[in-house]
Amino acid sequence: MTVTRLHSPLDRLLDEAQRALETTLGNPSAQRPYPAATTPEIALDPAERRHAAGLMRINHVGEVCAQALYSGQAAVARDPATRAHLLHAAQEETDHLAWCARRLRELDSRPSLLNPLWYSGSYAIGVLAGLRGDGWNLGFVVETERQVEAHLDEHLDILPPADLRSRDVLQVMKADEARHADQAEDAGARTLPFPIPGVMQFASQVMKTVAYRL
Ligand SMILES: [Fe+2]
Ligand SMILES: [Fe+2]
Repeated sequence: MTVTRLHSPLDRLLDEAQRALETTLGNPSAQRPYPAATTPEIALDPAERRHAAGLMRINHVGEVCAQALYSGQAAVARDPATRAHLLHAAQEETDHLAWCARRLRELDSRPSLLNPLWYSGSYAIGVLAGLRGDGWNLGFVVETERQVEAHLDEHLDILPPADLRSRDVLQVMKADEARHADQAEDAGARTLPFPIPGVMQFASQVMKTVAYRL
């Protein structure tokens, strides 16, 4: 006899809580190899090391926020295909999360202490976006990925030149984010209207300023 188990709201809530804890406090493992595995580690002076760690902490927070945003959107998505797209997108960011965490350890640093706060804020934004409908959901994915891609570009410019390992991680992430945006566009994303992209940019600027230090 086959028993089909329906997910109750409580199951869903527990799934969400588990994902939040794994993302913010756990140690997620990557499915793909570490992009800097064979890249030489060149000694950085203490100031360069601190700067590189600050940038990688921002990138780690960016991935926490992307996961939270997509999970929040998926929780209220109406179309199962959109929901699957969002959960898959969140899953793919796990590699990025694990790689940034590893690079932070290599730089003798740590992820942001405020990750639970970044996660809950982004999750709430994801739920609000998701309630607007599925075309909007995908529009948020496109805007998030394009903004992350742009800030990765900026970080590639300002990383200490000798930090080849962080650079290799960011290059692969940047190519992935561009692909994520293209996939969401192909799946029917709507262009987000004024002032939403600007508000998202402002929120991410606040996050970057704080996460560089904390
Ligand atoms: Fe990512
Ligand atoms: Fe992405």
